[in-house]
Amino acid sequence: MSGDKTFYLETFGCQMNVHDSEKVIGTLVHEGYRQVQTVEQADLILYNTCSIRDKAEQKVFHRLADFKKLQSQGKKFGVLGCVAQQEGEKIFERAPHVSLVCGSASYTNLPQMLKQLETVPQENPKEAHSSKLTAQSLIRITGLDDRATDKCFETEFTARTNPHRGYITIIEGCDKFCAYCVVPFTRGKERSRTSESVLAEARQMADLGYTEIQLLGQNVNSYKDSAGKSASRKSFAELLVAVGEVPGIKRVRFTTSHPRDFGRDIVDAIDAVPTLCDHVHLPVQSGSNKVLQAMQRLYTREQYEERIAWMKSAERDIAITTDVIVGFPGESDQDFMETLNLLDEVGYDGVFTFKYSPRPNTPALSLQDAIPDEEKSRRLEALMQRQKEIQIKRYKKYLGTTQEVMVEAKNESRKQWIGRTTQNKTLNFTAPETSVPQIGTYVNVKATQTFPNSLLGELVI
Ligand code: 5AD
Ligand code: SF4
Repeated sequence: MSGDKTFYLETFGCQMNVHDSEKVIGTLVHEGYRQVQTVEQADLILYNTCSIRDKAEQKVFHRLADFKKLQSQGKKFGVLGCVAQQEGEKIFERAPHVSLVCGSASYTNLPQMLKQLETVPQENPKEAHSSKLTAQSLIRITGLDDRATDKCFETEFTARTNPHRGYITIIEGCDKFCAYCVVPFTRGKERSRTSESVLAEARQMADLGYTEIQLLGQNVNSYKDSAGKSASRKSFAELLVAVGEVPGIKRVRFTTSHPRDFGRDIVDAIDAVPTLCDHVHLPVQSGSNKVLQAMQRLYTREQYEERIAWMKSAERDIAITTDVIVGFPGESDQDFMETLNLLDEVGYDGVFTFKYSPRPNTPALSLQDAIPDEEKSRRLEALMQRQKEIQIKRYKKYLGTTQEVMVEAKNESRKQWIGRTTQNKTLNFTAPETSVPQIGTYVNVKATQTFPNSLLGELVI
């Protein structure tokens, strides 16, 4: 690679992966690369992967096989993220045209790895169809630190894509080892950034004009500040408050919370600090104690209900959303009914539903009593139907109310603006041509119609 070094990056998965990609892009740009929007234009093709569910690894190998023909054009390939960490060097065996395999716990070493990659000779197009292994395919650069690293991927070169809302990772990795989950194996052990460094980033973002910050981590509630003297170290709730008090910041969100570590102080913080949004995502996974125990979730339904009660007794109208897995091994009809009944009891504002899928290395692989796929599909359908009814009712209560929204975009075909409420609800709205709202600003909108997943309204002038 010489002169103009270009790269193309494709990202799959959660917000954490999306934000990792923003940091990877920033790092590459700092190393003299230019991002391009098509594979054809790129010298280096990177693929940031997710392996949380389904047959993620097969999909990655299929995509890599599609890319193979581009090798004859001298392009280089790298696999990043969770599938990279999970499959490791096996990727080189199945896709010999790949030169770089790097899990998220090794991103701090990216600059060195890029330098190594630049020494990889480009494939000679004349030899492209020979069956011999080429020089390029023999160079294998790996960053597979797994659970060894204590370092967070901190960089000052984050290339944020949205100029108004930005992510900040506060904690990486996970030590919970829920029985179904691949994350502790792909993202390494839990490690927190210092509150000083998080706050410095938040202030810098506010100076750049960001008004919304989303704090990210696999389990933000087990955040442990290691800065300074122990007396000055912040708990997660204290960090939330401090970020919420950064001048210029109007909204702070956080995800994901783990019920075991979710303290009442978080609810108190939301009540006390107006910039903290009225929304908590608290994944429950199942309403049955038997299944929660098999999942090794470390809490009971009753403890989860206690946390819900804290939120419901708050002064603020906190929207609650959750994740549910159906068809975990051994989940009986009765267990599933308990989950349905939890949905009624809590009255969630949104539920992300998943069919259990076995993941490599996880303890649940050895469990008996797998649930047939048709039954998982039936339960998923029943759950989504029940939740839809709940949401229809919940969204109706906003009819006629006025909500402050951040203007996110314009839907040209519908001639509507897309807004987001503090509760993380989508509130689409119309505005007269004389009062065109600016993207990224906050306006008041009166809700005139409600749907199961969104609200519709008119700009209040
Ligand atoms: N199968 C199905 N869903 C899963 N999730 C995590 N691992 C699995 C799995 N093996 C879901 C959980 C988690 C969300 C991010 O993905 O509900 O909260
Ligand atoms: Fe996975 Fe459980 Fe960690 Fe969440 S808390 S990332 S579900 S192991």
